[in-house]
Amino acid sequence: MSEVNENAAIGNSSSPNNGNSNKIKNIIGVMSGKGGVGKSTVTTLIARELNNKGYKVGILDADITGPSIPRLMNMEDIRAFSSNNSIIPVVSDEGIKMISLNFLIEDENSPVIWRGPMIGNIVQQFYNDVLWEELDYLLIDMPPGTGDVALTVMQSIPLTGIVMVSIPQNLVSMIVAKAVNMANQLKVPVIGLVQNMSYVKCPGCSEKIEIFEAPEMEAFLSEMNLELLGELPMTKEIINYSRTNDSLSEDVRGTVEAMTEKIEVFCKKNKLRMFLR
Ligand SMILES: Nc1ncnc2c1ncn2[C@@H]1O[C@H](COP(=O)(O)OP(=O)(O)OP(=O)(O)O)[C@@H](O)[C@H]1O
Ligand SMILES: [Mg+2]
Repeated sequence: MSEVNENAAIGNSSSPNNGNSNKIKNIIGVMSGKGGVGKSTVTTLIARELNNKGYKVGILDADITGPSIPRLMNMEDIRAFSSNNSIIPVVSDEGIKMISLNFLIEDENSPVIWRGPMIGNIVQQFYNDVLWEELDYLLIDMPPGTGDVALTVMQSIPLTGIVMVSIPQNLVSMIVAKAVNMANQLKVPVIGLVQNMSYVKCPGCSEKIEIFEAPEMEAFLSEMNLELLGELPMTKEIINYSRTNDSLSEDVRGTVEAMTEKIEVFCKKNKLRMFLR
């Protein structure tokens, strides 16, 4: 079992609940149901875009057994610490606050061998006991699946909405449909769907090559009542952007900007809905 950093407040029952001092305006879950489709990558793309626009942004890595935010944000050597029993998040150079179990354990390669309820508790602590302070957007990078953690997040964290991530494959769509149905059953709004690895651009002629081919995507979107937030290509630049400060090409940047704007609009409308209630 993995050793948690002694300086951190994890598991400490006397740790205070920062729920009252944290002021988080919008909380976005990034989910899929399926593993390896790009949830964490899309989380970092949206977080960095929101941050570039001047918002205060945080990322909560709810993938306790397979945390990838520290590596994707190039911060794997940094450790979080605690003060007055609160967990102080790690802050990226650009100012994004982050918490992940890998910031709290000595060795990022140690496996976390815990049962579901304990993992759920950690996720709740990441929300309640981390000193997020004021945030415009908190993004929650969910683990694959529709199990314990997804349930804990949806039931105990006041999500503004969920961004679903998929790739154009029949089998994946079926699993994403489960995640959408789960959100619907728990009355958590789904903001829309990001179709990741949607195509590859031919380096010679710039033609879009659809590797997976999913002619039924339109039907899937309308059947699930999902808005398409954007289609991202399969490209090294997306992998590199996560790890470095390489800039994105114009069309990928445009897609990220457009999907982030749709998320902002959804959040603004949601605020208005809450206000008018
Ligand atoms: N658009 C893309 N083009 C190329 N590679 C990508 C793209 N999106 C993600 N990847 C790569 O695919 C792999 C999986 O991505 P990522 O870790 O974001 O998926 P995930 O859904 O969060 O996975 P998990 O379910 O394990 O948490 C990573 O190696 C990532 O760099
Ligand atoms: Mg992930």
